[in-house]
Amino acid sequence: MDKLKKEVRLAVNIDHFATLRQARRSTEPDPVFVALLAEQAGAMGIVTHLRGDRRHIQERDLRLLREVIKTKLNLEMAATEEMKKIALRIKPDVVSLVPERPEELTTEGGLDVKRQLKQLIPFIQVLKKAKIRVSIFVDPLNDQIKACRQAGVDLIEINTGRYAELKPESARKKALEAIKEAAILAEELGLEVHAGHGLDYYNVKPIVAIPQIEELSIGFAIVARSAIVGVEKAVRDMVCLLKRD
Ligand code: PXP
Repeated sequence: MDKLKKEVRLAVNIDHFATLRQARRSTEPDPVFVALLAEQAGAMGIVTHLRGDRRHIQERDLRLLREVIKTKLNLEMAATEEMKKIALRIKPDVVSLVPERPEELTTEGGLDVKRQLKQLIPFIQVLKKAKIRVSIFVDPLNDQIKACRQAGVDLIEINTGRYAELKPESARKKALEAIKEAAILAEELGLEVHAGHGLDYYNVKPIVAIPQIEELSIGFAIVARSAIVGVEKAVRDMVCLLKRD
């Protein structure tokens, strides 16, 4: 492993600012404006999930984000033909492949890479040919991590959702161990390691302590805190927590 980085990069998922806007089919809050504020406050990337049902982020947001953000645009999407065409048009820096179920409140788990490997390989190749880095949102399971390598991605995002949700403490500890093991394996396989889902101001520190993890994707907790203290403070406070002690 290279020298331990002093901090983990924060990528802010801005979807739920768009959820608020769409609740009134309004023009505010504009997630594009929020993305610029987040960058100014220390975010090193902006993440958006364009869903098939367009419940929050719209194609207009993606087009503008591509133009204005200065860090990295990460487009989360399902591996569908529709989304592939959009990604090739928008050219985000990173595409993160996620499973998507229309009725879900949020992404419910990692992609079953093992089962979909045959379809994923050519899908990923097309994106990589267009110079888009490809990531897969994956559960911390050894066989799934190995399948990510076979799928040809450069990086993975380990699903921290179970760790974030689980009680009691013993179950949570086990989930944390699984993430640590998955991170070690991924690094051994030459994959850049990111993580995310369900992380907040209270549970993020043990994840930051995992040396292989380079970037965290955090959305809901930052959006919720922004409503009370403003976007810049909410982002800055999270950036502080992502510093390694
Ligand atoms: N990573 C992925 C793949 C996601 O789908 C989401 C939710 O959109 C996140 C990270 C961020 O999760 P949260 O909103 O719980 O911080």
